[in-house]
Amino acid sequence: MTYDFEEIIDRRGTDCYKHELLEKVCGRTDVLPMWVADMEYRTPAFVTDAVQKRLGQGILGYTRPTAAYFQAICDWNKSEYGLDITPEMINYIPGVVSGIYMSMLAFTEKHDRILILEPVYHPFRLVPQANEREVVMSPLRRGETNFELDFERFEQDIKGCKMMVLCNPHNPGGVCWTADELRRIASICKREGVVVVSDEIHCDMLLGGRRHVPFASVSDEARSIAITLQAPTKTFNLPGIVAAHAIVLDEKLRERYFAYVQGSDMDLGNIFAFDCVRACYSDQGREWKAQMLAHVEGNVRLLCERMAAECPQIVPIVPEASFLVFIDCRALGMGTDEMIRFFADKAHIAMNPGVMFGPGGEGYMRMNVACPRSMMNQAIDQIVAAVKER
Ligand SMILES: Cc1ncc(COP(=O)(O)O)c(C=O)c1O
Repeated sequence: MTYDFEEIIDRRGTDCYKHELLEKVCGRTDVLPMWVADMEYRTPAFVTDAVQKRLGQGILGYTRPTAAYFQAICDWNKSEYGLDITPEMINYIPGVVSGIYMSMLAFTEKHDRILILEPVYHPFRLVPQANEREVVMSPLRRGETNFELDFERFEQDIKGCKMMVLCNPHNPGGVCWTADELRRIASICKREGVVVVSDEIHCDMLLGGRRHVPFASVSDEARSIAITLQAPTKTFNLPGIVAAHAIVLDEKLRERYFAYVQGSDMDLGNIFAFDCVRACYSDQGREWKAQMLAHVEGNVRLLCERMAAECPQIVPIVPEASFLVFIDCRALGMGTDEMIRFFADKAHIAMNPGVMFGPGGEGYMRMNVACPRSMMNQAIDQIVAAVKER
């Protein structure tokens, strides 16, 4: 079956974040919404059919995850990343960010230190800060093609930390950490007594034929300190369903974390979540995902080629994973506020400013390219025209 990624779907009036918050964040609504990380692609029918089927039963009562739900997650982990897990290692969580929050509550106390690699997805910083943890922002280094780990700095910064929240693959920048890098992180964290929460929500969207390496899989040390958080919601465009799961291979770690999740009743789930996860982690899901990724790759290529030819001041970082492109706008020489206003008022595009992801993000904007080609071309046209007029 061939899926259509060129369909224009008007989401205005559907209460979606991407449109409803434009006025608040951009001060205007006449902009292309290329910010919040959900896709402009239609959620695949095998997912919406699963929802319809549940609706059809007529009563939306409490619903529990079945053995088939756990098995689908085990099978997917084995087939997609070669990771062997068993059902008791899995617990439903209401979103990956909630999973980070619960890990923080289960394994740290107030004023404990939690390390993150900046720039990174902002809730990594905001959630611990809101809960009176000390956030240690260990900077990534800007390398020739993308952000890179600075192990010397990391080894210093990790001292005294109780937890690290890792983004694997990394958002923004779309970096896929190598097995060697992950092994090194694991060895340092094990030595320092640090629990690693590995947010792997982007792990099904590796580009260029790459294969995801789960942090927990790289060594016995990694296995013994890893809380892995996964969800099909980004890849298959159903984040509104709120379906994620934690995987913990180490028994002791698992007992503590799952006791917390279950004890706080955070694993109740919702009636649609379990069926949707099963629908995604299937042969149909694999097929849709391959076609979706090919489309995203086409958009990334288009963006890079057209920027190089028509607007060389703006340099997109080619992501190794996912549909979020960190674009280097430093050559425009604008301050943060000026740049935000420039893209909103002159280019008429809503993107996430790099500073939102912390130090190191200055001078960048994050663009969501999971959209029809026509929208992508329109966005590029608008950027090129705005830069030329400057
Ligand atoms: C790295 C990362 N983690 C988590 C999330 C959000 O996950 P959830 O909606 O399951 O909390 C996002 C969304 O963009 C993300 O990029």
